Amino acid sequence: MQTRRIGDAQVSAIGLGGMPMSIEGRPDEARSIATVHAALDAGITFFDTADAYSLGGPEVGHNETLIAKGVASWGGDTSDVLIATKGGHLRPGDGSWTLDGRPEYLKQAAEASLKRLGVDVIGLYQFHRPDPRVDYADSVGAIRDLLDAGKIRYAGISNANPEQIKLADEILGGRLVSVQNQFSPAFRSSEPELDLCDEMGIAFLPWSPFGGITRAAELGSRFAPFAELAADKGVSPHVLTLAWMLAKSPVVVPIPGASRPASIQDSATAVDVKLTAEEIARLDAA
Ligand SMILES: NC(=O)c1ccc[n+]([C@@H]2O[C@H](COP(=O)([O-])OP(=O)(O)OC[C@H]3O[C@@H](n4cnc5c(N)ncnc54)[C@H](OP(=O)(O)O)[C@@H]3O)[C@@H](O)[C@H]2O)c1
Repeated sequence: MQTRRIGDAQVSAIGLGGMPMSIEGRPDEARSIATVHAALDAGITFFDTADAYSLGGPEVGHNETLIAKGVASWGGDTSDVLIATKGGHLRPGDGSWTLDGRPEYLKQAAEASLKRLGVDVIGLYQFHRPDPRVDYADSVGAIRDLLDAGKIRYAGISNANPEQIKLADEILGGRLVSVQNQFSPAFRSSEPELDLCDEMGIAFLPWSPFGGITRAAELGSRFAPFAELAADKGVSPHVLTLAWMLAKSPVVVPIPGASRPASIQDSATAVDVKLTAEEIARLDAA
């Protein structure tokens, strides 16, 4: 598996997004653990989770616990695994997603994530989403305090615009290592953030790279040029999509979600697909 850089860590160029294993429509635990093991077998060393990935209420942190359990029970060497989690989103239990970006809340949430992940230091902690009721600088200030206190190894942000990326990096004293934004053939408006991350040497983690859990299966039928080129190369439209993202910049590390071993096994092969400049331009225009 090829690697890319997040901070000064080398991680697999394709990560695994944990959300489909913990929200509505999730599989049983055995299939989820098998999916985490399949990712590790395929050479994946980067896992994205969040305390909010659960059905809500008392189950907060369902996905953090699951990913930690899957990694711990694998049996191989996991010393190079980086688990990224997030704080700032909540699921009260009625199906909704709410926000809390208050510094005191984020610090408390990080402490709870530390316990669920069973670690002394969180690998990568990401501020999940700006809370309009809280000054962005105050929320990111809490992430800086966690970094300074040694509670987290790396600091990241998610759902941020270019101004917020620059501000966060300034508040963190140049220690912002990643930005996680929505990016897929269906959702391309994060190109400015991707370009800025490329310029700043910060990892860009596209979320919902296939258009999200409920629309991932339609990827090929919605984007014919992706399906056609995928067929020419003998790969799935999903693999071709990830290869297209990887080709955009060396800072890109896609985090496709999966709840079945076969899905992540297939996605991991994207690192082997080479695209010409002409093919990339064709997909950009699709
Ligand atoms: N920061 C944020 O605000 C935010 C928001 C949303 C998501 N995320 C993160 O981004 C990750 C990815 O996004 P997502 O899970 O929402 O959507 P996604 O990656 O666009 O789609 C996930 C779905 O794609 C299917 N899939 C995966 N690999 C496939 C393949 N090679 N061929 C065919 N189907 C495949 C999976 O099906 P199966 O379930 O059948 O395996 C899965 O349910 C999440 O898991 C989460 O970690 C972050």
